[in-house]
Amino acid sequence: MTKTFEIAVFEGDGIGPEITAPTVAILKRMASASPDYALTFTDAPAGAAHYAKTGESFPESSMQAAKRADAILLSAMGLPDVRYPDGTEISPQIDLRKALTLFAGVRPVTVKAGQRTPLALPEGKEIDFVLIRESTEGLFYTQGRGEVSEDEARETLLITREISEKLFRFTFELAAARKKAGRGKGRVTCVDKANVFRAFAFFRSLFDAEAARHPDLKADHAYVDATALWMVQKPWEFDVMVTENMFGDILSDLGAGLMGGLGLAPSADIGEKHAVFQPCHGSAPDIAGQGVANPFAMILSAAMMLDWLGIKHDVPAMVADGNRLREAVEDVVARGEVLTRDLGGKAGTDEAAAAVLETLFVA
Ligand SMILES: NC(=O)c1ccc[n+]([C@@H]2O[C@H](COP(=O)([O-])OP(=O)(O)OC[C@H]3O[C@@H](n4cnc5c(N)ncnc54)[C@H](O)[C@@H]3O)[C@@H](O)[C@H]2O)c1
Repeated sequence: MTKTFEIAVFEGDGIGPEITAPTVAILKRMASASPDYALTFTDAPAGAAHYAKTGESFPESSMQAAKRADAILLSAMGLPDVRYPDGTEISPQIDLRKALTLFAGVRPVTVKAGQRTPLALPEGKEIDFVLIRESTEGLFYTQGRGEVSEDEARETLLITREISEKLFRFTFELAAARKKAGRGKGRVTCVDKANVFRAFAFFRSLFDAEAARHPDLKADHAYVDATALWMVQKPWEFDVMVTENMFGDILSDLGAGLMGGLGLAPSADIGEKHAVFQPCHGSAPDIAGQGVANPFAMILSAAMMLDWLGIKHDVPAMVADGNRLREAVEDVVARGEVLTRDLGGKAGTDEAAAAVLETLFVA
């Protein structure tokens, strides 16, 4: 029986619409070739350009579409020149994280043979790990509400039992699923600063409690500063890492750097009911409208969406299509013939997306 899923699509700002269109076209083509699932797409206007046009950054109808949908596909939001009167930028993606309690920011980092990376990887080594960034509290807890006086400024770091327990449960389940799929070693690393801060000792104790429920997985700890070093020196040793919001914010950009840039870095923000899939990069206003943006991070995010929906709703064909789509992008990158400018090539957005479609359906 065909299962149908509704996807809310936030095409966003800058290069957003340019990378969304070919990504949705690929998803439509894949779904139409499968007897097991169908996808419907609902446009959800929001973002800086929408605010400039209408005075509204995140219409209630778009929030409702997001809440109703089975999954949310988002490109990038925000334009540096369009701001609220208080000077902050329009960022509905952060509003979504809070409104839908998307506590797990999932950032896969992969470097396959043939892919450009600033590291000189030893022969035969590939990078394939997932960084999970808590995305609703930590040092972002007082975001926009920090106290600033003439002489000092204060922000609060919050770690709660409720969110941490959900986060660690999710993390260990992901590590188990990767191990079962033959992709991971079954290792989970808690990245913290428990040697200095009591809040992180608390974070670590909750991690250890969840680890005790998974004797089949190897759980260990690493301090965040050492983790930054090891991500450069021996990144192939990691499997699944979990950390606080600000640490994850910083380490995920380091991860994107290992992959050769933001153009190949997908992400997901996942909660208990809802999930948003979006590239790590922003709206790249400097290249918007030129047709040269790299669509691969967005397409890889769509692959993560198929995988998540397939696991959640028990549709193995979607999980398989998620893998097929990820591997098709990895293939195009490894072949190196059709790459966008940011990856050292000359191809435009549509040409790069077409190479992925061709790999899926012709090769
Ligand atoms: N999640 C999000 O929606 C998100 C994330 C980061 C930044 N932003 C917003 O995006 C706007 C621009 O931010 P920024 O310039 O700091 O970061 P950015 O990621 O948009 O761009 C940084 C650099 O990377 C390049 N780049 C990014 N994505 C690319 C792609 N797909 N293909 C080729 N090159 C690409 C850009 O051209 C630019 O030179 C800001 O308004 C910012 O607030 C949004």
